[in-house]
Amino acid sequence: MITRLTIKQPDDWHLHLRDGAVLGAVLPDTARHFGRAIVMPNLVPPVVGFEAAKAYRDRILKALPDGAGFKPLMTLYLTETSDGADIARAAEAGLVHAVKLYPAGATTNSDAGVRNIETVYPVLARMSEIGLPLLVHGEVVDGDVDIFDREKIFVDRILSPLRERFPDLKIVLEHITTRDGVDFVKAQNANTAGTITPHHLMINRNALFQGGLRPHYYCLPVAKREIHRSALVDAVTSENKRFFLGTDSAPHPDKDKESACGCAGIYSSPVAISCVAQVFEDAGALENLEAFTSRNGPEFYSLPVNDADMILVRDEDPVAVPEIIQAGSDTITVFNPGTPLYWRVANE
Ligand code: DOR
Ligand code: ZN
Repeated sequence: MITRLTIKQPDDWHLHLRDGAVLGAVLPDTARHFGRAIVMPNLVPPVVGFEAAKAYRDRILKALPDGAGFKPLMTLYLTETSDGADIARAAEAGLVHAVKLYPAGATTNSDAGVRNIETVYPVLARMSEIGLPLLVHGEVVDGDVDIFDREKIFVDRILSPLRERFPDLKIVLEHITTRDGVDFVKAQNANTAGTITPHHLMINRNALFQGGLRPHYYCLPVAKREIHRSALVDAVTSENKRFFLGTDSAPHPDKDKESACGCAGIYSSPVAISCVAQVFEDAGALENLEAFTSRNGPEFYSLPVNDADMILVRDEDPVAVPEIIQAGSDTITVFNPGTPLYWRVANE
């Protein structure tokens, strides 16, 4: 049995850091394990342009613990009035590494997102020219589409035509939750990739209703059936280079999750690496862990792999998982997969 592994330091290719007190509370958990993270722009107001991204990056850097080598990779929030020239300037300055497409109404703070995809085609053409990736929240919002089908229908109706229209545009289907999403990515060329979260690798939709309603397992896209979870595990443990880790760690104060209308989002940063290592061990594929956590992402984003190593150790007893973190006077519950985790990072 393998009980010790050395891998290149992972990156998180999809992360919500928020702002203010929550930023200060969650950032150390990411900076402890990850070299870089693609930082989501769905603040209020959203991070739409160069100046906003620069100011947000400065706030993140200021909130970092002393000596942390963590590097935030900024993104811009795509709106129907986004300015292609401003986006290009932010990319060329090395400030911004991707643009995020939220279909309006699909998730937390997505109201300023895109209603009609064709309105942003000129911006997408510009991004395609300069090699700037489009990160896609892949869910339709039509009221007549079942919530568990939102991703599949998005792939069919929106993403496939988009892929055909802009063959050179780099596209990441974020937080894939279905076999359909996996199959879509696999069927495309090297310009198409997908991120997958630790929680979607570990829970299926039963977790939401285990003995009662479980708000801390609620996120968007919502977890799907077991056949889909198992397709995600197959995708990440295979040798396909176009799947990489994006935790979608999305902190909300417990009072906002444990409410009559609870927010979507799972806070997983402290346990993300332990979860993923466990998934790979359970699948008998630990030799492919490093590709998923540390190599495939940089390759897609044309960035170097991190220099530093991470040492993972498998204990005989389950690792102690923190239940909550404190953010000012609020608590934020940490993802608990409901099954023991044996891997921990030995050189935090
Ligand atoms: O569960 C989610 N939470 N999904 C998203 O797409 C957004 C995120 C958030 O910002 O809370
Ligand atoms: Zn997200």
